[in-house]
Amino acid sequence: MREGLTYSDVLLVPQYSDIESRRNVSTHTRLSRRLKLHIPIVSANMDTVTESTMATRMAELGGIGIIHRFLTLAEQVREVAKVKRSHNFVIPDPYTIQHDSTLADVREAMYQRSVTSFLVVDQNNHLCGIVTPRDMMFEDGLDTPLSQMMTPFERLVYKEVGSYNEVDYEQARQLLKAHKLEKLPLINAERQIIGLITAKDIQKRLQYPQAIKDAQGRLLVGAAIGVKNDYLERTQELVKAGVDVLVIDIAHGHFKYLLETLSQIKSEFPQIDVIAGNVASAAGTRDLIAAGADAIKVGVGPGSTCSTRIVTGSGVPQLTAVMDCVEAAKGIPVIADGGVRYSGDMVKALAAGASSVMLGGLLGGCEESPGLTRIKDGQKVKVYRGMASYDAARNRQSAEKGYEVDLDSYVPEGIETVMPYKGKVHEVIGQLMGGLRSGMSYLGAHTLPEMVEKAEFVRISPAGWHESTPHAQYK
Ligand code: XMP
Repeated sequence: MREGLTYSDVLLVPQYSDIESRRNVSTHTRLSRRLKLHIPIVSANMDTVTESTMATRMAELGGIGIIHRFLTLAEQVREVAKVKRSHNFVIPDPYTIQHDSTLADVREAMYQRSVTSFLVVDQNNHLCGIVTPRDMMFEDGLDTPLSQMMTPFERLVYKEVGSYNEVDYEQARQLLKAHKLEKLPLINAERQIIGLITAKDIQKRLQYPQAIKDAQGRLLVGAAIGVKNDYLERTQELVKAGVDVLVIDIAHGHFKYLLETLSQIKSEFPQIDVIAGNVASAAGTRDLIAAGADAIKVGVGPGSTCSTRIVTGSGVPQLTAVMDCVEAAKGIPVIADGGVRYSGDMVKALAAGASSVMLGGLLGGCEESPGLTRIKDGQKVKVYRGMASYDAARNRQSAEKGYEVDLDSYVPEGIETVMPYKGKVHEVIGQLMGGLRSGMSYLGAHTLPEMVEKAEFVRISPAGWHESTPHAQYK
């Protein structure tokens, strides 16, 4: 019988280092066959971890978020679209509203689209004005016509262009600066809208130089799909909404239906990378790659809310699982999913060859995680729960067409809990990345691949683990 090890069973032996500053290491990595990240962190596709707010922040910080799938199709698509629209230098298809709308229509559209202003168009799609919160501030008659509130075309500053590609970032910045504008519509000679430049987008670009973006300057985002019910329809709609990577994951990913779904998605949507999982063995990894996976998500039961191993007796301690899968993956990126409790665990996972880590519990409880902040025993907390818990199953039933569950006989493989409120995710990521950078300098590694080469693990005893954790006692 082999022995399986996890993060707390090992340490990394420090190596000679010539790294003078932690800032001098590169944390760039691969998420999947074609996608790259600036930091090796993926926020988990869990309903208490990743929706658009978390995914936007993750991509701004250089990682990526995967929008969970316990949402209706329309909701999941909307979450993806929100991330894709959150950064641009030119928005090629700005939201518009018809000139004969009322204040009520504008408010409803703002709520539906989660934006605060619209370009106003006539029935021939000609720009006839712009409406922003300032225009509506003192209007309270819900049937007030938009034409009475908007800034009309005659008073607008706009730029005439042939196509939105004609304007690059620097030009966009100069145009806004020259006109001291917050919004600059781009139109063609027929007054039709070609794009929109906003000051907010320009500021964001300066604020997040690490952000992970597509060729059009939009943040990258992933979304999860399942292997049954509406997965094909979801995939089509998510791809239309601009999703950059799909995650097909189920608790036991070395599974006939998952392999069939994966092959089908890869043959129908070859343009998009697909991460598949979860597996914890070399054989599982090889089969997923043979079915077309562009990255392998590894982890059966290590997660902080998982009860899979207790309920089913199945799983592999996470460090061994990662090492086995990395070896079998032969260069296809592996995502170490679950069980990361400290930055040191992330360093160990990456040193073992994972290209990135997926985090649930460490990011649950952040300002950007979905869910309300509540007070429990005098402390601010947020709910964090396993996706195979009762509550998540109930949520899934109302979201996924065709999914039916009898909660009386449901056997959960996850628990519900609460996390202390942690504040903003950038602070949490800042701590984790600080730990990773230090960890790399302890191994003398300038890059993540170099860290894998230099890694020398040593097994430790329970006493070794005890010694490794702060243990000062004042008597
Ligand atoms: P952490 O440790 O970061 O783990 O909280 C997050 C990962 O846990 C997995 N996950 C589950 N596993 N039952 C399980 O056995 C569940 O209910 C469950 N929910 C999430 C998932 O892989 C996630 O990324």
